[in-house]
Amino acid sequence: MSGDEPELLSGGFVNVVVRVGDTVRRPVSPSSGFVRDVLGFLEHCQWPGAPRHLGFDDQGREVLTFLAGHVAWEKAQPAEVRSDQGLVAVSRLVRQLHDLTAGSDLAGDQEVVCHNDLSPRNTVYRDLGDGLHPVAFIDWDLAAPGSRVHDVAHVCWQYVGLGPGVDIAEAARLVRLIADAYGLLARGELIRTILWWQDRCWRGIATAAAAGEPAMVRLCALGVVNEVRAAYQWTAEQRLALERAML
Ligand SMILES: Nc1ncnc2c1ncn2[C@@H]1O[C@H](COP(=O)(O)OP(=O)(O)O)[C@@H](O)[C@H]1O
Ligand SMILES: [Mg+2]
Repeated sequence: MSGDEPELLSGGFVNVVVRVGDTVRRPVSPSSGFVRDVLGFLEHCQWPGAPRHLGFDDQGREVLTFLAGHVAWEKAQPAEVRSDQGLVAVSRLVRQLHDLTAGSDLAGDQEVVCHNDLSPRNTVYRDLGDGLHPVAFIDWDLAAPGSRVHDVAHVCWQYVGLGPGVDIAEAARLVRLIADAYGLLARGELIRTILWWQDRCWRGIATAAAAGEPAMVRLCALGVVNEVRAAYQWTAEQRLALERAML
């Protein structure tokens, strides 16, 4: 292990994540064993879209490789992050993850292993000479066996920013773009699954905050519950327009 001074990394809303040399240290979670297995499997496949799992340090933290690049966690972002090319590239990266894990033991009786928290703030972008491109996903804590449409719906919600203030015609076009770039077959389930995520998210944060979970109390204080509930209401109101774009 490097003896470098730990540097607190910005952009996490739940965990205290530090960089030490070329590594990242994250607190363990109940799913750390599964995450280690998934990252080990992706390494075995030589997939470059995730950090490598290097074990656990003497403080019991997860040790991962540090992925150099731009993590899009702030509200204001370079245009590439929300560009058509950016969304297409993210969708193809998700497709790779799913195709690699489909039929593996890790997927269990489900279609694939889902990341379950795909968003710009968990994506590393890198300048490949012609602007920023998404190259990897971080923050694998919530990874679990699941259906392809679950991750695709999360991508639509988070990378398009579905919610109040978004132009519905443009949003519908981008949702369609993502589904097409991924090659999603379960198109009829997509909008319903976006609503499922949004509803589950604000309720989950509110319930955990009421139970005193510090990270969730913090998110509540930042107004995240109201924000996500408003996003849910917006998507529910725009449901028909979004579904029409999928036909
Ligand atoms: N493997 C990594 N490589 C580069 N940066 C990372 C890596 N893991 C985490 N980070 C940085 O640390 C921040 C918080 O990490 P993350 O795993 O997303 O924590 P949280 O669960 O709190 O969201 C990220 O926004 C990113 O800037
Ligand atoms: Mg994160």
